Amino acid sequence: MSSERVLSGMRPTGLLHLGHYHGVLKNWVKLQNEFPCLFFVADWHALTTHYDTPEVIEANVWDMVVDWLAAGVDPEKATLFIQSRVPEHAELHLLLSMSTPLGWLERVPTYKDQQEKLSEKDLSTYGFLGYPLLQSADILIYRATQVPVGEDQVPHIELTREVARRFNHMYGREPGFEEKALEAAKKMGGKRMKAYLELRNAFQERGDADALAQAKALLAESQSLGASDRERLYGYLEGGGKMILAEPKALLTEASKMPGLDGQKMSKSYQNTLSLRETPDNIAQKIRRMPTDPQRVRRTDPGNPEKCPVWQLHEVYSDAATKEWVKAGCTSAGIGCLECKAPIIDSVVAELTPMRERAQMYTEDPSLVKRIIHDGCAKAREYADQTMVDVRKAMGLSYS
Ligand code: TRP
Ligand code: SF4
Repeated sequence: MSSERVLSGMRPTGLLHLGHYHGVLKNWVKLQNEFPCLFFVADWHALTTHYDTPEVIEANVWDMVVDWLAAGVDPEKATLFIQSRVPEHAELHLLLSMSTPLGWLERVPTYKDQQEKLSEKDLSTYGFLGYPLLQSADILIYRATQVPVGEDQVPHIELTREVARRFNHMYGREPGFEEKALEAAKKMGGKRMKAYLELRNAFQERGDADALAQAKALLAESQSLGASDRERLYGYLEGGGKMILAEPKALLTEASKMPGLDGQKMSKSYQNTLSLRETPDNIAQKIRRMPTDPQRVRRTDPGNPEKCPVWQLHEVYSDAATKEWVKAGCTSAGIGCLECKAPIIDSVVAELTPMRERAQMYTEDPSLVKRIIHDGCAKAREYADQTMVDVRKAMGLSYS
């Protein structure tokens, strides 16, 4: 049994393209087969930078979900939802804000970077400063253990770990914690309890990391434990208080090697993209118009693939034999550039055809997407609620 839970979010910023597919979505599709996954539309995060153009966000939310589904994200396997439909994220954000030092937020590198990069916008706002803490709430509210993100987001996961640690330290010690932990341990059964306590000793006395891992595995597979006893025993194991919030790990997503149509990185702002819903005609047209090695002016001029953006696409799509054919044909002027582009057109069309078909099914019947999101939001809320019950209680807000 795996106690891992994967969570990731994406801001709704426009139609997704092949760069998103090769960078992020292909990874999500793989993860959904390996772990319980939650994927959500970070609409509040989009508002931190687009608070004056909310219409952009609304239009993009549904298109983005359709693109996820088109790319093969499967609502039977992963829970798909919209951040603002689970308002508990905001509640946790608020509660975490009470004990988060301003300095922690001011020091997050994306804070100053983005302010400088998006200098046309006024980002000296309370909301923008809180961006990474809102992200921490997104993650902690699901007790996610693995968060697939790009390199730029790693500091946000680090912050999340610190926030969780501080929270557990500050609020995790209930009165009678030790007795409650021992009572919970009894529920594992005598043999398991003994093993657990021995492993705990080995970890606490000698810092034995193997013992820690074994004890965690023991807890994960102990069917007789309820969720809160299990959490308590995780906490007891590591010496601190009850583990109310789990520290997540960043699951680094490799940067996409997908080049744009001009050889730069594929990006909306460079207008060099192929969208996931591009028709075969458009794909062919756009690729035929791609610039090639500038030295290859005439068909009879030999070229150099290293200087050609089309070659980068062969690196993504073509097998060894095709690549040999390109190298030999290009450097000897044996093949023309249109000929060279043909296998790329075929590969991209083959990759995108099933996506376009799936997207069409969803755009023709938007109620399908609404239903998927409706169900996903309900499920996400259930998970979020479980954490919030513990958080409110720990902070003296349960009034029962
Ligand atoms: N900040 C992330 C980005 O820009 C999006 C995001 C919001 C996110 N909340 C998250 C990613 C929680 C992972 C987990 O890409
Ligand atoms: Fe580029 Fe291919 Fe033309 Fe060579 S033959 S310049 S690799 S498109």
